[in-house]
Amino acid sequence: MRTVSPTSRLRGRVRVPGDKSASHRAILISALADGESALEGLSRGDDVACTADIVEHLGATVTWSGERLYVTGPPGGLSPSDAPLWCGNSGTTMRLVSGLLAAVPGTHHLAGDPSLSSRPMDRVAEPLERMGASVSGTGERVFAPLTIEGRRPLRAIHYEVPVPSAQVKSALIFAGLGGDGTTVITEATRTRPTTEKMLLEAGVDVVVDESGTGRVVRVRPSRPQPHTWRVPADPSQAAFFVVLGALHNDAEIVVEAIDDAPERVGFLTVLSRMGARLELTPANGGLEVLVRSGELVATDIHSSEIPSVDEVPILAVAAAAATGRSHFRAMAELRLKESDRFAGSLRLAHLLGCEVGSTGDDFWIEGVGSAQRFSHLSIDAGLDHRMVMSSAVAGVSGRGADIEGESTVSSSYPHFFDNLEELTR
Ligand code: S3P
Repeated sequence: MRTVSPTSRLRGRVRVPGDKSASHRAILISALADGESALEGLSRGDDVACTADIVEHLGATVTWSGERLYVTGPPGGLSPSDAPLWCGNSGTTMRLVSGLLAAVPGTHHLAGDPSLSSRPMDRVAEPLERMGASVSGTGERVFAPLTIEGRRPLRAIHYEVPVPSAQVKSALIFAGLGGDGTTVITEATRTRPTTEKMLLEAGVDVVVDESGTGRVVRVRPSRPQPHTWRVPADPSQAAFFVVLGALHNDAEIVVEAIDDAPERVGFLTVLSRMGARLELTPANGGLEVLVRSGELVATDIHSSEIPSVDEVPILAVAAAAATGRSHFRAMAELRLKESDRFAGSLRLAHLLGCEVGSTGDDFWIEGVGSAQRFSHLSIDAGLDHRMVMSSAVAGVSGRGADIEGESTVSSSYPHFFDNLEELTR
């Protein structure tokens, strides 16, 4: 258990880890290339380490040198491993690797921890089977462990992703690299464009067209070129410190340059609407965020503003400290993350002293008006790093927190508690 104490004053700069999404993709794309790639600024969490171990099992060479990782894809391409491929807690690893392996002939086994084994993989299994791979797991929703029979070439298909999911889109893009023609993937809501952008940088034939609120991605079979990757800082991790600064009663925090893709920084728009005092400055090709204490007011948040909904638990903490009733709408995907974050966000706000309620896929939180009015928090965050970090932010700004499951921050942000403590000095 981790005890977090309330803190009277927070000052300083935070450099959050490298973007987890870009880190996974940099490793996978490099492993597909023929030759050596250099990767800088990677996330050093367990999730990304699983992806690195997997490509090594598939025949890539992976070597750390200081803060740089070198990944060399084998000249003949990746090949199956006899050992099961361990994805840990990481949905991104399991779904993206499934897409990539669908086009690697042979039999592949993928497994994960209990949290990952309860997340549906049918969303990738179904389209990958249409492309000609076989993907089997447990039950109708295809839970891990998974067995994949890869083949090459796969059938190039046209697929409309039925849920807003960057993981599904990306799995199909990776599969499409081994297709027999142009694979066309349509999404109705724009999700993070990390895969498309990075494959373009690696010389792959990907064409992206905006289409209303969504996007169409066309990918032709090809092999990425080796590349030097500089991974930007992770906006979803920055969200914890931005909310901390906004709701704490004596804070001034700078979060150093983060990736500024519009699909990633919707939480900043939400917080501005809530009255958070933010100053955003372009820096190092991204966005630096200065946040100062202020008073927050309730707002209405639709999931399309923050596709992938990773920032909802921490925005629920912001809503808990605000004046008035905040509404979170169309939040079905929140139930399918590392834990049921729909129930978890409501439980967290309730434990902080808020009235809460839900109807269908919507929920509301009646804020207590200030983090200083939070109740002391005692919570089991399960195997969910974002629930741990959200609870810690609430504890530091309010009346403290006792958090079970704290070690799971290692999946995405091993130095989270160190960075938090540095602000109190
Ligand atoms: C991710 C996609 C998201 C997000 C996850 C990372 C990715 O899930 O929750 O943390 O790197 O592609 P969706 O597939 O629901 O968009």
